[in-house]
Amino acid sequence: MLTQLGLLLFFILSCGDPCHYSTPPCSLTDSSFQLFWQNGPPSVACFARIAEILYNRCSDDNLIESGRCKQVEEPLESGRVRIIAIANQKGGVGKTTTAVNLAGHLAQRGQRVLLVDADPQGNATTSLGFAKRELSATTYDLLMQHPEAKQAIISSGRDHFDLVPADEDLAGAAVELVAAERRERRLQQALASLDTHYDHVLIDCPPSLGLLTLNALCAADSVLIPLQCEYLALEGLAQLKLTIDRVREGLNPRLRILGVLMTMYDGRTNLAQQVVNEVQRHFPRLIFRTLIPRSVRLSEAPSHGKLIAEYDPQSRGAISYAAFAEEVLQREERSS
Ligand SMILES: Nc1ncnc2c1ncn2[C@@H]1O[C@H](COP(=O)(O)OP(=O)(O)OP(=O)(O)O)[C@@H](O)[C@H]1O
Ligand SMILES: [Mg+2]
Repeated sequence: MLTQLGLLLFFILSCGDPCHYSTPPCSLTDSSFQLFWQNGPPSVACFARIAEILYNRCSDDNLIESGRCKQVEEPLESGRVRIIAIANQKGGVGKTTTAVNLAGHLAQRGQRVLLVDADPQGNATTSLGFAKRELSATTYDLLMQHPEAKQAIISSGRDHFDLVPADEDLAGAAVELVAAERRERRLQQALASLDTHYDHVLIDCPPSLGLLTLNALCAADSVLIPLQCEYLALEGLAQLKLTIDRVREGLNPRLRILGVLMTMYDGRTNLAQQVVNEVQRHFPRLIFRTLIPRSVRLSEAPSHGKLIAEYDPQSRGAISYAAFAEEVLQREERSS
């Protein structure tokens, strides 16, 4: 144990960046890492310490201003497709609600949008009014490179807004691709080979950091993190950032964090405000100004297969998602 701790400290101090050495990274073959690992896996306590150091080191300002992390602010080329993964391994935080409504608002502003449902639950698919049993091809076919993949893109029935739907078959992809070469790049390859051109591709991720989310992070330019205004919301954020860092290091150097969107905000509770304050303190540049309120109308809309702008355009939810879409466009504009 002492040897392991000594080694760990040595690497943190000598390499200056424990991100490389935190866990066996997916595809890193860094010789220093291998040297570290040859001495046996570090204990859970060591990992916890690395995570803590990493969390402090990579918190907001560092992400933007300091050395290695700075690449997340690399400007996006203007005039090309922006691919946004909407990710948080925590379940029920508003990923799908954000994905479909952001897609809808961007399309309303004339942006050509493709929404990829990358969750076997297929919630984005049903939220847009599609019955899963009627789908002829899905994200599963895209990832498995089936000939049917060409039919996977369907119109959402709204102007400028297409969808790649998903159903429970997608859960099989994670298993079937285990031994496949470049398995984490399947979505990236599929999107690169699209005939149709889009301004935005949004990817609705499942609540896990498995192969499906990894595919989304490899394909994306940026990650949008919805965070519920709840006490436990920040839990898991460090793990998500570790994953994003590892993907950036080993698989997709252009990946950056687009921002953190606070969802299900209930202004009547002190707790919601405290959580927002906490996130603002840690991530002043990443948090979006727009807060998405907790609203029954937002939770009702998917059961009618409608976007909030279609279901109740005057509702607080509709107004805040419209403001959020505007903020996303402004943020992209600033970084291009
Ligand atoms: N702002 C909101 N106010 C009230 N209810 C909301 C709000 N946002 C989402 N919901 C509801 O909360 C539930 C979870 O939302 P959603 O499906 O968007 O989360 P998710 O992160 O995609 O979940 P999962 O991790 O399971 O994919 C849904 O029933 C949704 O309708
Ligand atoms: Mg979802």
